[in-house]
Amino acid sequence: MPHRFTSLLNLLFLLGLGGLPSIITVPSALAEPALVKPVGQIDVDRPLESTFYSPRDRIHPVFARNGMVASQEALATQVGLDILKQGGNAVDAAVAIGFALAVTLPQAGNLGGGGFMVVYNAAKKQSETVDFREVAPATARRDLYLNEKGEVDEPRIRYSHQAAGTPGTVAGLALAHQRHGRLAWRAVVEPALRLAEQGIPVSPELAQSLREAHKRMAPWPASMKIFFKADGAPYQPGETLVQSDLATSLRLIAEQGAQAFYEGAIAQKLVADMQANGGLISLDDLKNYRAVVRAPVKGHYRGYDIVSMPPPSSGGIHLVQILNILETWPLAELGPESAATLHRLAEAMKLAYADRSEYLGDPDFVKIPMAGLTAKAYAKTLAAQIDLSRARPAAEIKPGQPQPYESGQTTHYSIIDRDGNAVAVTYTLNFGYGSGIVAAGTGILLNNEMDDFAAKPGVPNAYGLIGGDANAVGPGKRPLSSMTPTLVFKDGQVVLATGSPGGSRIITTVLQTVLNVIDHRMNIAEATLAPRIHHQWQPDELRVEEGLSPDTVRLLEGLGHKVVVKDAMGNTQSIVRAPEGLFGFSDPRRAGGLTAGY
Ligand code: DON
Repeated sequence: MPHRFTSLLNLLFLLGLGGLPSIITVPSALAEPALVKPVGQIDVDRPLESTFYSPRDRIHPVFARNGMVASQEALATQVGLDILKQGGNAVDAAVAIGFALAVTLPQAGNLGGGGFMVVYNAAKKQSETVDFREVAPATARRDLYLNEKGEVDEPRIRYSHQAAGTPGTVAGLALAHQRHGRLAWRAVVEPALRLAEQGIPVSPELAQSLREAHKRMAPWPASMKIFFKADGAPYQPGETLVQSDLATSLRLIAEQGAQAFYEGAIAQKLVADMQANGGLISLDDLKNYRAVVRAPVKGHYRGYDIVSMPPPSSGGIHLVQILNILETWPLAELGPESAATLHRLAEAMKLAYADRSEYLGDPDFVKIPMAGLTAKAYAKTLAAQIDLSRARPAAEIKPGQPQPYESGQTTHYSIIDRDGNAVAVTYTLNFGYGSGIVAAGTGILLNNEMDDFAAKPGVPNAYGLIGGDANAVGPGKRPLSSMTPTLVFKDGQVVLATGSPGGSRIITTVLQTVLNVIDHRMNIAEATLAPRIHHQWQPDELRVEEGLSPDTVRLLEGLGHKVVVKDAMGNTQSIVRAPEGLFGFSDPRRAGGLTAGY
């Protein structure tokens, strides 16, 4: 990090704000107000729009002049890049990568899940989003997942056929292709088909994640047949994983389009598997599934335009809401990773997640006060509640009046093509390998997205997220998501495409990437690597990654934060567009990603 603050400066900030933690004593001379104004470590002369290599940088992004792809898996990145080189546009590449990741990153890439795409069409100068979130089957009811004691039946909502919502991925990719694609449908499905048919080399990370998934897959012969050897042994790194049933499904999709999945042979097999195992998804559910084009959530932050995912994801709304709150303070001067900055972030995050718990759900079923939640004026009232000298206990915070754990695997990818079209896609099965269940004969893993509903409003889900009535289970309803595929614009031009997996931490991961680029002027590699923090209101803890200075942690604790160090958060795949070309970076928090361009 070129901009890291020393602990002394952190301390001075706190002093200047009048919030001296009781555990710290400081020589009074250090409290000179003159010393409070910082700091000059930020390379403010480097505009985001021109991020060519600076000798201050310790890490550098990938550079390419024409087109670029950033994804969590190298073979899929290569597929996208080939599509761009063949003359396909960013959406063609996005569709091809979406199918390819279903083969090469089976823990998150999928045909049996869902997600969200943000598209910028440069010729039309228009942004839109494609919502291909899973939908609750028609027989789903509010109390469906409660056991006889009235408690949430976690095994059923997470690891059974009833865990799956009607998948949206195939419909979403088809809709995006139909609206924006340039290449033939077959051309964007075939690379994935070849990978499934010919097999992929098992990477060390795939081998490890499959070993971890063994317990979940063991009850399901259709899953074991594909992801483990005939004798049940796990694949070793370097061995070849062939997915023949998936290749058959992909061939049907290549030949017949999305209809093969929703009405044809794949639908028949999927529903037969549901019926044999007490699942909910029917032929009608599949036939009635629709991906939806929605207007993006838009925000404005320090001269940049933010374009992100609207409900049924909470991502865009709360990204904009937190940015609006943070605009109150000169974060660039306060510095990245300083306790002063991180305290403001944490307090703003809590307020946003409290609102999320109350107001967010499927917009086709509940009225969400979107304008209020993203209004600058509302953010002002929230910022005014933030005490700069102390962390507010979560119990003191209630949702406002806007008149508005672990084992997860989701994946994000970003593409910018030579014409300036940009695509940000986040999609998922929810947990790694979803429910762990392959619908027999299809090679397709089923999501466990029903757990993103508030199965019992007020009771946290697997990500510790609390949802209210707005996110209760209901037939035809989409479960609330945190996925935040995001584009940032300056003067009408895309300057950043980004997004991340990470469950409830997705919103705050994307937030910090945006802040690191816009406020702290980091290049996209440094913006990615900077240690992340996360507060989601409940549980009342400030989760941080390894790498924060212990001095900073002490300062935050002095303000009253309960700081806990846990696993790394998120896995961003980002591209910055500058006059010189494209700069991209694949987050190394998970192994195997690749950013490449031409
Ligand atoms: O839609 C959501 O918010 C969750 N189903 C995402 C899950 C996730 O990111 C798991 N990841 N690492």
